[in-house]
Amino acid sequence: MPELAYLNGKIMPIEEARVPIEDRGYQFADAVYEYFASYKGRLFAVKEHLDRLEKSLRALSFPPISREVLRDAVLGTFQKAGIERAGVYLQISRGVAPRNHAFPKEAKPQIVLTVRHVPDTPKEYLEKGIAAITVTDIRWGRCDIKTVQLLPNVLAKQQALAAGVQDAIFVSPEGIVREGTSSNLFIYSNGRLKTHPLTHHILPGITRAVLIDICRKINLDVEELFFDKAALLAAEEVFLTGTVTEVLSVRQIDNQTISAGKPGLIAAKLRSELESRAGAHLK
Ligand code: PDD
Repeated sequence: MPELAYLNGKIMPIEEARVPIEDRGYQFADAVYEYFASYKGRLFAVKEHLDRLEKSLRALSFPPISREVLRDAVLGTFQKAGIERAGVYLQISRGVAPRNHAFPKEAKPQIVLTVRHVPDTPKEYLEKGIAAITVTDIRWGRCDIKTVQLLPNVLAKQQALAAGVQDAIFVSPEGIVREGTSSNLFIYSNGRLKTHPLTHHILPGITRAVLIDICRKINLDVEELFFDKAALLAAEEVFLTGTVTEVLSVRQIDNQTISAGKPGLIAAKLRSELESRAGAHLK
């Protein structure tokens, strides 16, 4: 099945999709994005992703874009690609205009999208958990808007790989644990789950929201509150959550072993609940 691109209304092979050099996404990171995933040929949480996209667009004062256009772009390209386990990356820039910091008067938002296969999470990570480092959060003050300015995330991820581990966890200069480079973070201690509250400092993850809902249904307490690095390292379980990540246990942070040093039962339970809600087990 072909991996495909969508460029302002046209579907084409990815290699053929081109963006002009004066696209504001390219010059100013003046663009927002979403990443959807499918299970067994069905996209998960489309409404929630489109809601968040509209919030991001509004937060940056983009001109309104019809929901129909966005939904058709995502679903149309996804259906044409026919990939069962696909990742749909959708990016909208403010438009193409001569470089000037002020918003251009005439520019039209550019909508681009790719549909690709989602690589399987390595079995070893699922069975043993991953190792991570903590890094100081040097990102801007509106991490709740899903913009493409991801350089601090890119650098943190690369720093983790250079240190021989799989990911990095952002910790504020004051010591508050925020989230992963492309995921939210939960800890489990004393019979309760804890995750960072929805503020300007983290992305309001769709997976995070779905998991909180699942926890309510299965009577697992979740508290949305701030916690520090000492609480992170002392937790019985630490796991990352996201559209690609799903639920992924962290067994080691900054060379310190977390609890038993292997994935815990809460993460396993939540991963399985999430997958069944997404239809991953359907035949
Ligand atoms: N990233 N936090 C950050 C910084 C993220 O980039 C992501 C997702 C999440 C989890 O959000 P969600 O559950 O809605 O996927 C949290 C996407 C997958 C990406 O950048 O590719």
